[in-house]
This record gives sequence, C-alpha cells and structure tokens, in this order.
Amino acid sequence: MKTKTMYPKTFGKSLFTVFVLLLSLGNAMAQETPQATYHETHRPQYHFSPAKGWMNDPNGMFYYEGEYHLFYQYYPDKTVWGPMHWGHAVSKDLAHWENLPIALYPDSLGYIFSGSAVVDWKNTSGFGINNQPPLVAIFTYHDMAGEKSGRKDYENQGIAYSNDKGRTWTKYVGNPVLKNNGTTDFRDPKVIWDEARKQWVMALAVQDHHEFWVSKDLKNWVNTGSFGKEWGNHGGVWECADLFPLKNGNTTKWILIVNINPGAPNGGSGTQYFVGNFDGKTFHLDEDFKPLVSNGNAAWLDYGRDNYAGVTWSDVPKSDGRRILIGWMNNWQYANLVPSLQWRGAATLPRELKLVATPQGYRVAVVPVKELQSLRNIKQVFSLKNQKVKTAIDLTPQLGFKSTLSEIEISFEKPQSKGILEIEIANNKGERYVIGYNTSTNTFFSDRTQSGKIQFSDKFANSVHTAPRLSNSNTIKLHVFFDVASAELFADGGTSVLTDTFFPNEDYTKIQLKTDGTTIAIKELKIWSLKSTWK
Ligand code: FRU
Repeated sequence: MKTKTMYPKTFGKSLFTVFVLLLSLGNAMAQETPQATYHETHRPQYHFSPAKGWMNDPNGMFYYEGEYHLFYQYYPDKTVWGPMHWGHAVSKDLAHWENLPIALYPDSLGYIFSGSAVVDWKNTSGFGINNQPPLVAIFTYHDMAGEKSGRKDYENQGIAYSNDKGRTWTKYVGNPVLKNNGTTDFRDPKVIWDEARKQWVMALAVQDHHEFWVSKDLKNWVNTGSFGKEWGNHGGVWECADLFPLKNGNTTKWILIVNINPGAPNGGSGTQYFVGNFDGKTFHLDEDFKPLVSNGNAAWLDYGRDNYAGVTWSDVPKSDGRRILIGWMNNWQYANLVPSLQWRGAATLPRELKLVATPQGYRVAVVPVKELQSLRNIKQVFSLKNQKVKTAIDLTPQLGFKSTLSEIEISFEKPQSKGILEIEIANNKGERYVIGYNTSTNTFFSDRTQSGKIQFSDKFANSVHTAPRLSNSNTIKLHVFFDVASAELFADGGTSVLTDTFFPNEDYTKIQLKTDGTTIAIKELKIWSLKSTWK
C-alpha cells in the first residue's frame, strides 16, 4: 500500500463556479451513499464485499463457537483508501456472510492497519471473564501524523479484546504492546499459538523480511529471528505475513506467507510463500526449496492479478483440521480506480491450503472450500462426456442458464505439443473474458483485454496473465468460478491458481468452449448455475 496525500485544488471565485461545485459535490455524495442492495452493477453475488465504502486486506480471522469471523481493512465514508478501521462480518459456513458493526475505529495512536486475532483459550492475557476465553486482536497502529512529520517509528503493534463473541472490542490500555525502534515498515502481525513450545509467535512484515517475535501473554514480546532478506522476490515491500504448519501424511512442513507489493508475477500485488521448518525462534527454508526462491524466483499462491494480502483463519477446530485462506480480490495498481460505485473491493473465495508432493518438491495446493458446493443450483446443471472440440462449441443454448454466476469443472486430454483450449464468457455487446490452457507454453492463462471497462487504469488490461502448469499428468483439470465481476481458476487440484476481476458493461451471460483449431478431447464437463447469497 502506498499512502497518497491529496492537496486541495484552487477554485475560481465566481458564484457560478461555487454553485456548480456544490451541485456536483451533492451529486457525488448522493452517488456515494445510496442504500446498498447487493444488486448493484458489478456487485459480487457470492463473495464477501462490504455494503458500502472501501475494503482492502482481510484481517483477524478466527473461528469461535460456530462462527467464522472475517474482519477487513475498511474505510466506511468513501470508496477510496482512507483512515483504516476493521470492518466485521461472520459466517456459519464460509459461503453466506452477515455484516456486523465496525469492530475497531482509528484513535489517537493511529489508523488500525492489518493484523490477526486469536482465541486465548488459556487466558494467558488475563482479559478473560466468567471462565470464557477472551478473543484477542493484534494489529498495527499506523500514526499518519507521525509519518507525515518524517518520523520513522510510525507503525507499532496494539491489541484489543472481546468477551462477547467478537461483537464489541476493547483496546488494551497499555498499547502499543510492541514498539517500533525506527523502522519505516513494521506491520501486519500474524499471531499463532505454538503448541509445542507453549508460546505465542508473531510473524511481522518488516521492509524486506519477516521477523519473529514470541510472547507468553500477548502483551510482552521478544524478537527471536528473521527470514527473507536473501530469499524470494523483492520487487516491493513485504507485507501481511502468515506462518503455519501443513501436514501430508507423516510429513509436516511450515509455510511462511509473504504478501508483496509490487513484485507479483503478472504485475503489482501478489502472495509468495516458502516451505520449510520453524524451530520456535525462526524459519528455516527447506534445502530443496532453495533453488526455487534464490535469485528472486518465488513460489506464488496465485498467479492472477487480483488476490492480495491473503492470510489464514486461526482456531479452526482440530476435528476439522483445515488451513483456510482468504485474500483481497484486488491489486494496489488500480484498486482505488475500479469502476464500482457504492463500495470498492471484495474478498476472494475462502480456500483450503494443502501440502502436496509435486515433481518439483513440496508445494501448497489451493482449492475452494467444500462448503461452496452449497451454492450449486442443483436444478440448473449441465454436463457432457467424451466430446471432441474442433474449433468451438457454443454452450449457451444448451445450458439454459447464465454464465454470470457459474462453476465449471472440465477435464481434457493434454494435446501432444500444441493446442489451446479456452472457456469464453461474453455479453451481447461483444465484450468477453477468456480463461484457458496453452499447450506450447504449458501455461494457464486469463485474458481480460476485451472484457469491457478497462480504461480506468492503463495497468488493468495491459497483458494476458499466465500461470505455469506444475502437474505432469496427461489429464488437465480446470475448476473455475465466475461471479459477475471475477474468475477464480483452480487447476490440477489447486497446483496452479489464477484470480482475476473484470467489469463488463453488461453481465456476461454466454459461454463457449473454443480451440485454436487443434482438436481437443474433453473427457468430462460440468457446469453449475450458482445461487446468490445476498439476494
Ligand atoms: C496491504 C497493506 C498492509 C497494511 C494495509 C493498510 O494491502 O498495505 O501492509 O497494513 O494494507 O490498509
């Protein structure tokens, strides 16, 4: 994130100018604050987006007493980035979200930047009452005035707690709990409980590396190590850390997540990760992962342009055992300009992270959470088996429902040496979005260059985005979700992932399968119409 100062312009003095100004200001305000209906142009229908105002990073996610909590960077008064609050929503199933009142407001110590939250089961913080574990949020205070005055220590970590299932939060009187000693970027604490060592561990993003801090009570923190100066991508500042173990059979690996802006493979904001071990003090990179991340190479959780600041839920019950991530479906390159009116920004779909052995070593596979299957409209499903596509099949008439809200699973034989398979969704205005696979480059791709409104930023549709294929299976599998203004591709069981947004002038309703002239053998295709969770 880059903060920008807006300087007031000098206005002419004539009464007429003042009148026109007031009129347009009135109009702008009227446009900015209508009642949210969730029917608005470009409004996602089964992703989380705030009713009104601006959102960026997901924050403080934890599960407690049947609810998945989602907080997020929020500016309620405008649809551009501004004084940061924590907005709040809850879900019982990761598919349907209920908006709750703002959880944290900025105060004299600063804006409330990104961070995490935990269930303090053992009441180590002492904030608990009535034998109930307190919920504790750990966030960055960003002192805007301090930054503007040239201070370097304008980011410090604070905590707040809740004793009522996250409905209200009290900031700790001893804030900040972790003070900055003069480092300009020192933010986005992600705290986990380290069961083996009975300690809290904080991963903190600090300029070009992550630092590790430990605590027994969430109030007193000691620095124990750092990782990253020499590894991975350094195209921009490191932000939003996460650290957690993932299991595959008897193998446990620790995953370190590093959001970085800019530096992503297709431009702007992106999420890289490292596979290794955590010894209670610091992170150690796996030997066989090293060649991948040296010289600026990195492993990316998502190759699309619109998945940033992703971190994972805390306290998902052991009986469930999943590690679930959600990101911000946007990119700092154009986030403040995207053409939605009443709100700006949405979350990605919640995704389960899995440790998988690939021909290239252990990697993190990313799949949509299984609860999303409840969105399928079981009466509106289309399927076919064993069919060859020579140039194109128009599925629109056969489908009988719109591609606007749809989910597609398709598997096909990998062509010998060349051949492109495309899924194209389009509208009556000739605007289209294309996602597919290219055999000669062995990449998945996403093309929004003719997707509709693209002029709002010259960075938005300046290239076709690609994701390398990791699997070497002869069957290629695409799993795609379309939701009004976004596409999320999970290919080959989540080993190649790509998330992109688009803004057509009219909803895409049509759908075609196309090839570059190569005959491609479809093994199986299924398309579901999905239900809106907001209407
Ligand atoms: C990431 C980020 C964080 C920061 C927040 C501010 O998108 O820049 O590093 O805490 O956004 O809104």
